[in-house]
Amino acid sequence: ACRSLAASPLLGFRGVAVQQAEDFDQVLVPEGYRARPFFSWGDAVLSDAPAWHPDASDDWQAQLKQAGDNHDGMHFFPFPEAPDSHGLLVINHEYVNPPLHPNGMTLADGRRPLDEVKKEQAAHGASVIEVRKDADGQWQRVMPSRYNRRISGFTPMRISGPLAGHEAMKTVADPSGLEVLGTLNNCSSGFTPWGTYLICEENWHNYFVNHDQADFARRVSHKRYGLANEGMSKLYGWETADARFDATPDASQPHGGYVNEPHRFGWVVELDPFDPDSQPVKRTAFGRYCRECSALSLGDDGRMAFYSGDDTKGEYIYKFVPSGRFDAANPRASRDLLDEGTLYVAQFSAEGRGRWLPLVHGEGGLTAVNGFASQAEVLLNARAAADLLGATPMDRPEWVAVHPTTREVYVTLTNNDGRGTRQPANDANLRPANLHGHIIRWNEAGADPTATEFTWEFFLLAGEPEGATTAAGDAVPANLIGTINGDLFSSPDGLAFDQAGRLWIETDYEDRDTVMQAMGCNQLLCADPQNREVRRFLVGPRGCEITGITWSPDYRAMWINVQHPALSYPASDGKTRPRSTTVLITKNDGGVIGT
Ligand code: FEO
Ligand code: CA
Ligand code: CA
Ligand code: CA
Repeated sequence: ACRSLAASPLLGFRGVAVQQAEDFDQVLVPEGYRARPFFSWGDAVLSDAPAWHPDASDDWQAQLKQAGDNHDGMHFFPFPEAPDSHGLLVINHEYVNPPLHPNGMTLADGRRPLDEVKKEQAAHGASVIEVRKDADGQWQRVMPSRYNRRISGFTPMRISGPLAGHEAMKTVADPSGLEVLGTLNNCSSGFTPWGTYLICEENWHNYFVNHDQADFARRVSHKRYGLANEGMSKLYGWETADARFDATPDASQPHGGYVNEPHRFGWVVELDPFDPDSQPVKRTAFGRYCRECSALSLGDDGRMAFYSGDDTKGEYIYKFVPSGRFDAANPRASRDLLDEGTLYVAQFSAEGRGRWLPLVHGEGGLTAVNGFASQAEVLLNARAAADLLGATPMDRPEWVAVHPTTREVYVTLTNNDGRGTRQPANDANLRPANLHGHIIRWNEAGADPTATEFTWEFFLLAGEPEGATTAAGDAVPANLIGTINGDLFSSPDGLAFDQAGRLWIETDYEDRDTVMQAMGCNQLLCADPQNREVRRFLVGPRGCEITGITWSPDYRAMWINVQHPALSYPASDGKTRPRSTTVLITKNDGGVIGT
């Protein structure tokens, strides 16, 4: 990578230092900026929500009216009348942690208590909250608001697109295959040009188990995604209290009981935040995998692409190209635009060239003989289809960001300790035991989001500088040396551009791991895509990851998420239990963030 000593004109702030203190329980931002906790797990969303109890004794009914846990992807939707001072903030709640309950997650006689399971399901999903600047110009949450809403693991959702009503989507509880309850593991997100939010379902496979060994061995739609096939489901054992999560086939029940329930997750969920009565829609044309994000690239002619990473070691990067175009003069025509289109998977070749391979039934061997009876099966088993096409296995693709003017596309490959062993190295994933991750960027041919060829290069390899030594005085191994021009970090995850073209990078690594000692607590950094300079803008409390990022349209307010802090945050008093929190960042002089 090229290195430049010239300071970037895009980065106007003074960087903050790495924070290595074991008891660091703050959010640190540059001089001249302020970070304010804005929306924490348990805060009221609906006006009749009970006040959050610090001992976590709120029951599942209360949780359904309060902010969920593990805030992740989010987006600010402005009201057209006052875009820079009034909007809706939509925030994903990815998963739950033991401090959700007074005494952590419990098990009695091999079963999870139903009340705990229900609270955990209630704490997943998303929050829609109305936000507005008050008379003093300070952003506040609006309460009550007709827009405020909690989406959870219970919320009924419509299934649309090629899998709607398909045999593979039917269960004993939903013989129509048209309606599913809830969304789970809502990691990153996306938005459309017509003002809707896209919730992405990431590690849904961890919520199910299939105990039938023979069935599991041949059921690609379970096995290829890593469902548990013995003991309890990998995350919470919900199936011990709620039959819906036991995907073992049951021949005595219509549609095999819940064997198809795992088929109803792994999609993009489209939500209209401005219509609080609207039913969220699972869009199956996007394909089913462990989707991190869904990042829009909009062409001048209204054609578009949505880019996604499948965040698992050795999985792929996809893009979905809707058949139709966005027509700004007629946004209602976009209502079902996401039901028809082409799903592609990326193949990165040597010499910086790449191709998008279409996942289209009948093409490239995606035929009945190979287990793909129709386009519905191709989408349901997108990973297996991508295997067959020869897609490039990546080092855990997380977020994708598209440059606001050039449409250059960036992706974080967060890390992969199995590279070189589980997956052989390839041109785009070079480092064995890639613990620090890297960022790749590419240009679609003709800057056309729908192009099928691109050119790519490494933007940077994360890790320590050349010549770095460990705390013990040994040389840092070559696979952990990076090419960062500026401040040190590991495991890039969240990624987004602001309108001026600053690239914001959020990190997610195990901050107590000895390999991460030089990195300190997790961080938000800002990079200049031209000279590749990287500067640290924010550091979060011990044990958290920094994720989620959005702005008011004038870029004078920025919100980020502190997810799963280990110490007392936001109370920072050494005793109140930690709470995932949306943090508001403003500049004291009212200026644009980053300038
Ligand atoms: Fe939920 Fe891949 O992070
Ligand atoms: Ca996370
Ligand atoms: Ca992530
Ligand atoms: Ca991550």
